[in-house]
Amino acid sequence: MEMSSSPAAADADWWRQAVVYQIYPRSFADSDGDGLGDIRGIISRIPYLASLGIDAVWLGPFYPSALADGGYDVDDYRDVDPRLGTLVDFDEMTARLHANGIKVIVDIVPNHTSSRHAWFREALAAVKGSPARDRYIFRDGQAPDGAEPPSDWDAMGGGSAWTRVPDGQWYLHLFTEEQPDLNWANREVRDDFLATLRFWSDRGVDGFRVDVAHGLAKNLVEPLAAKARLADKSLPPGTHPFWDRDEVHDIYAEWRRVFNEYEPPRTAVAEAWVDRSRRHRYASPEGLGQAFNFDLLDANWNAGQFRSTITDNLAEAQQQGASTTWVLSNHDVVRHATRYGLPPESQGNRQNARTWLLSDGTSPALDRGLGIRRARAAILLMLALPGSAYLYQGEELGLHEVGNLPPERLQDPVFWRSGGTDKGRDGCRVPLPWTADGPSFGFGTGPAHLPQPAWFGLASVEAQKHDPASTLNLYGQALRWRRKLQAAESFEWIPGTRGQVVHFGRPGGWRSVTNFGTDPVPLPRGNVILASARLDGGQLPHDTSAWLLLPGGKPLTNAAGT
Ligand code: GLC
Repeated sequence: MEMSSSPAAADADWWRQAVVYQIYPRSFADSDGDGLGDIRGIISRIPYLASLGIDAVWLGPFYPSALADGGYDVDDYRDVDPRLGTLVDFDEMTARLHANGIKVIVDIVPNHTSSRHAWFREALAAVKGSPARDRYIFRDGQAPDGAEPPSDWDAMGGGSAWTRVPDGQWYLHLFTEEQPDLNWANREVRDDFLATLRFWSDRGVDGFRVDVAHGLAKNLVEPLAAKARLADKSLPPGTHPFWDRDEVHDIYAEWRRVFNEYEPPRTAVAEAWVDRSRRHRYASPEGLGQAFNFDLLDANWNAGQFRSTITDNLAEAQQQGASTTWVLSNHDVVRHATRYGLPPESQGNRQNARTWLLSDGTSPALDRGLGIRRARAAILLMLALPGSAYLYQGEELGLHEVGNLPPERLQDPVFWRSGGTDKGRDGCRVPLPWTADGPSFGFGTGPAHLPQPAWFGLASVEAQKHDPASTLNLYGQALRWRRKLQAAESFEWIPGTRGQVVHFGRPGGWRSVTNFGTDPVPLPRGNVILASARLDGGQLPHDTSAWLLLPGGKPLTNAAGT
């Protein structure tokens, strides 16, 4: 498969094959001992980020927030949460990251504000039908006295999607009640976001990760459809009242015009949970430019599933013109080292992995060693693919999910809203261990905002840094090799790739081979430059990847998938 321009072609294309490291700011590094990660903490760890060899960081929300949803409830889009620092700190961080050759992507949350946002407070104080209410989605209730919500829709994570306010009206919130949905049909809302995009772009931010990008546009003409109707697969694409409507792309076309005011143009990546056939709309160059593909994250540790995910997504990228994105973990899912150590039915299935969490990480039994072994093999496979790679903080340490957080320490609203039937996402958001001991393993000088388990010491940066066989060093070496080897976005399946082996080639004789099976397989020809586990002679053991260079490396043919 031959795809468009090489990453080195122009600075404007820097994102096409970038390695982007996701920082969850409140859990990365705490500079002032209050238990919460902050901007100065990030600044203090820039040498670490630079030595890792990433191209960009994506900062999760760092805005003022009551943390009703981990910061995805934003009080003010143009400020830094005072507990995390100031705009001056932010500017220093950006300048220092840039000085180290690292770009900055920030999370933008346009579907909803927080209920503490000035606009929402104004809306509550205003009367029904007022311009202040029109920035959100207020409706009268059903039943003669309006005491029933306008529809039976559920919020993500549980409970009704409508909450009643004192004068009897209801407002829509597709997420928690602290996250009222904005009305994107309102020009003022649109203009305000354009101002926010310029605000951060002017400060030197290089790109945006767009939260719930498939939300925003809504058609709430009454009568509102019942949830049973919305779940019906026969609903024509683009006609759901609030997800993935066609008009959402008019909004992103306006955003694109703002991105293109800058040199190089600002980039964006959509978090759009949509059918693969609709994803290209978000990734269009007239829109956000790139969209997450979560298919690898949703796949089991299984050669066939990995192969088809790769084939399908590369074909899609070729069709849409954007590069594809690869993700194994993020702040919303059980860490992949853990998923891969669970039985197959729990690996790619988010709900089953959450069932494991509900048992406090006891059932089904987790094979911790196997999970890490597979995670190491998976990262070599993923980093050899064309396109951008998104890493989630801590995966470079091979961190497992913290499965046994005590319920009284949980922060994710999902736990409470689901009535305790879903433990939520805190287990992957536990602050990082930097040192082998200390009150919060070097995260800060005091205890961390979520409790860290004792095994974090052995997984810490300090414990791994000098061990050549550590997962941290595997990531470092893989990223260094990737930088040297990464060329055009071309890819070929090596003939004979079948069964338990996934084997592909990249330009310049770079080859990646992974054995998903239980028995060793012969190593293909080429010089091994990196392996995720010790190799036995000429054999590639189970659950292991190796990168090889063909002697004298030659250009790729245009062979398509197997
Ligand atoms: C996205 C975020 C998630 C958040 C939700 C609501 O899916 O990744 O963490 O809860 O949006 O903003």
